[in-house]
Amino acid sequence: MRNFKKYVLIILSVCMLLSLSACKSGKDDNILVMATNAEFPPYEYFESEAIVGIDVEIAEALAEKLGMELKIENMEFGSILTAVQTGKADIGVAGMTITEDRLLNVNFSIPYTIAYQVIIVTENSAIKNADDLADKTIGVQESTTGDIYVTDEYPDAKIERYSKGVEAVQALLQGKVDAVVIDNEPAKVFVSQNKGIKILPEAFTIEEYAIAVSKKNDKLLKRINEALEEMLEDGTIKSIIDKYITAG
Ligand code: ARG
Repeated sequence: MRNFKKYVLIILSVCMLLSLSACKSGKDDNILVMATNAEFPPYEYFESEAIVGIDVEIAEALAEKLGMELKIENMEFGSILTAVQTGKADIGVAGMTITEDRLLNVNFSIPYTIAYQVIIVTENSAIKNADDLADKTIGVQESTTGDIYVTDEYPDAKIERYSKGVEAVQALLQGKVDAVVIDNEPAKVFVSQNKGIKILPEAFTIEEYAIAVSKKNDKLLKRINEALEEMLEDGTIKSIIDKYITAG
């Protein structure tokens, strides 16, 4: 009888330990972890302590549709895909453009909006169009399509890579770079917040923003695509975007 009790106790404690470690290592199925880089208004940015923006609201609506709770992890833009690949995050939502190279490492949902790269220069800059960038110093946010694009397109330019888009804009204001190449909507926000800079009318590269999902998580990707499709159809996405971006 004594032995029996001892065994029961041992088995019980092993069970408890096992379930504890399962809690620690296994991710909660009900939490949708979103990796982002909250330096990209109006898609994701800090409003005091809170991360807000178009992507946040889309992800919140998405999580609700999936019956999950959204949890946001803020990180460097260049770390988002690794977070998704390694399962540290379930989704990457960061105004992220679908590219061939990124598709080698992750899957993307259907696109939820489009964007393009623009050039920001100082008000009286001699730079009038994309060709003028060829031998200039260009500021970009590191690892973004702006970075990739100018690196490929302008072998003779000097590229300054910043961890935040806003730092590239500050460098422009300080005369450290001649131009900044960045997505159109963040460009509009940064230009509206600073005097003496403007966006050139000529834009390049139409891009599609989509949600990054691990290649090992086809089930989640399918559910996300179904939800996104509904949200695109019923106007949910449009009304979220319209809340942050005024036409014109
Ligand atoms: N659309 C660009 C890209 O995919 C820039 C995205 C930057 N996003 C951010 N949250 N900082 O590379």
